[in-house]
Amino acid sequence: MAKYTRLDEINLHEVARRYALDRPELAPLAGGAANSSFRLFCGSGEFVLTILDNHDMPSAQRLAAHTQAMFRLGMPTTEVIPAADGSLISQLDGRPLIVKRWIDGEVKQPLPVELLPEAGRLLARLHALPPQSPGLGDIPIGTRRLSKDHLAAIPQFKDQEFAGWLLDRLGRVQAAEAEDHRPRAVAHGDLFDDNIVVGRDGRLSILDWETVSLDDPLLDIGMAAVGLAQEGGLLAPERLNALVAGYQEISPLSRTDAVALSMEIQHAALIIAFHRYYRHNVRFPDPAKSTIHIEMIKFVDSVESAAQPLA
Ligand SMILES: Nc1ncnc2c1ncn2[C@@H]1O[C@H](COP(=O)(O)OP(=O)(O)O)[C@@H](O)[C@H]1O
Ligand SMILES: [Mg+2]
Repeated sequence: MAKYTRLDEINLHEVARRYALDRPELAPLAGGAANSSFRLFCGSGEFVLTILDNHDMPSAQRLAAHTQAMFRLGMPTTEVIPAADGSLISQLDGRPLIVKRWIDGEVKQPLPVELLPEAGRLLARLHALPPQSPGLGDIPIGTRRLSKDHLAAIPQFKDQEFAGWLLDRLGRVQAAEAEDHRPRAVAHGDLFDDNIVVGRDGRLSILDWETVSLDDPLLDIGMAAVGLAQEGGLLAPERLNALVAGYQEISPLSRTDAVALSMEIQHAALIIAFHRYYRHNVRFPDPAKSTIHIEMIKFVDSVESAAQPLA
């Protein structure tokens, strides 16, 4: 298992001192799936406290700076609350800690279809941000893609049939991308329903900027399609159309882009399939999850066989 911090391991007294909090109380997050994130109540409001177990201080500081940059650039997202000394990340028992403002609302899984156009509009607004905007100058390039090390690990997979399928499909994506000259944009990389809070007024906020990068906007729409346009493990064309219709209200896609999108949804699904296999069979073997990568094979087939939805 990946390492998580428990509520009773947190020195709340020390957190209160660092952040000058009045009468703080910690509670688990409803849903409970979050990695080392807790709800923090105190006299001055409600917050989320996260122990970033899987980060070192420099990567935690980059995450905090990117999150705050998005907030300041007007993306609806959570604001990072600095400690009393002004730092966005603090260190508690050797682990990085971040405090963010609580967003009142609900994570809806699946995100209702009528909210997908708004998700698409937000994604288009993100892609339209100038990459040199304050706080975003250092975002990494292409890091949502599989790295050379990832690719080199595939032939070693015990599930050889899956490895063969993955390499074949990645080869097709690579051939299609050889023709691609799309400008790179600021991409979220993980716009799944668990990273979206639906406010009481129906407005959406986007969480979790861990996978932000500069990349092909179509790959990011593809990732959002994997996260938001699936139904019963297959691509749901109605959901994809709702997402992309919202996107196109802000940023119309050319006909070439609309055709290329199918391949980029597949690319995103291949990246997810890789990570599922790698995480649950190689890094943290977990028999309960050891076959969830297989779902992506059916999904990729459903994307390929869907009529070009937007062309
Ligand atoms: N600022 C926030 N307001 C409301 N809920 C939040 C906030 N931050 C996180 N959450 C909740 O915590 C969950 C996990 O948070 P997230 O930032 O996506 O971390 P991770 O996915 O890395 O665990 C979200 O799905 C959401 O339910
Ligand atoms: Mg998340």
